[in-house]
Amino acid sequence: MIPSDPVIAIVGATGAVGEEFLSILASRRFPHRQLRLFASKRSAGTVVDFQGRKLLVEELNEDSFDGVHIALFSAGKNVSKQYGPIAVQAGCMVVDNSSCFRMDPDVPLVVPEVNGDVLASITKPCIIANPNCSTIIALMAVSPLHRAVGIERMVVATYQAASGAGAAAMRELETQAREFVAGFAYTTAIFGRQYLFNVFSHNSAIGPDGYNEEERKLLLETRKIWNDQKVRVTATCVRVPTLRAHCEAINLTFRDSLSEADARTILAKAPGIRIVDDRAANRFPEPIEASGIDDVLVGRIRADISQEPGKGLDLFVSGDQIRKGAALNAIQIAERFVPAAAGVRAGSAART
Ligand code: A2P
Repeated sequence: MIPSDPVIAIVGATGAVGEEFLSILASRRFPHRQLRLFASKRSAGTVVDFQGRKLLVEELNEDSFDGVHIALFSAGKNVSKQYGPIAVQAGCMVVDNSSCFRMDPDVPLVVPEVNGDVLASITKPCIIANPNCSTIIALMAVSPLHRAVGIERMVVATYQAASGAGAAAMRELETQAREFVAGFAYTTAIFGRQYLFNVFSHNSAIGPDGYNEEERKLLLETRKIWNDQKVRVTATCVRVPTLRAHCEAINLTFRDSLSEADARTILAKAPGIRIVDDRAANRFPEPIEASGIDDVLVGRIRADISQEPGKGLDLFVSGDQIRKGAALNAIQIAERFVPAAAGVRAGSAART
């Protein structure tokens, strides 16, 4: 269905995730015969350097997907809603980073290390949804434990970076740092408030039950990815002034018992995560160290003393929001449709 050297399109190529798509396609040497870059009218005509080639950013339109085999979307919900179905109609496999289709029962919601098996049954062009960044990062760490003993309840507190709100939010945080040094008033165009030296509730809409959308996504997406409507999840999602890696404090209640030692053994073997848990040196996952790498860092692994022995565990994780939380996960999905990509990757360094 998809050739071994597909034509790939990036929708939202000038954004934070779009730029990361480019960097990961290059570092993983994703085989392709052509790469096409799309954004809005604002940045059409921009020239982007890709592996020594100059690529032109084009304005997205209804004909953009003619001849394209795989489209990686990260231009927001409205663009996905309008152009996702057009791309599929044109014969294109769409991996969508927005929340637009995630809860559609006909759309797979995939973290390859967790439920990548659902991709095996896909035989024709369709939309595949990339989960929310906080969900991906949490589930990378806890799914191996869920597989082992079943997780009954998960309590999450997030510490979310600027990147989740896009490149402009990252620039605003950097601008506020410069404004602080210069003694200028803060620019507050994105969040409408001081972000530097501050912590505030996630900027998504709050529903009548008091949960914001980000918190609700953690519940609904976890249930869908695990295909488990019983798991209980509650979350408090917060923005902290870091640039591109989220942290999450996670408390788990298990169905069956699991000792801390067995949890460590399981986590040490799990793909895509790295244990950083040095109690003596007080070295645990930090966003600075999680930034720019593929693995999600997992630490502060400890039995929850408020629960029966073996029934609860605490973790602290940090993962690059733009990378595993968005672009890398989407590209790993796309790789499942291009067997040649896996071969190339096996012969190259997976990490940059
Ligand atoms: P543009 O640079 O033209 O605004 P981020 O999430 O970092 O804010 O990036 C959003 C990405 O989505 C950018 O590449 C942006 O392009 C793109 N984008 C926003 N609106 C549209 C649109 N209507 N059509 C195509 N691309 C869009």
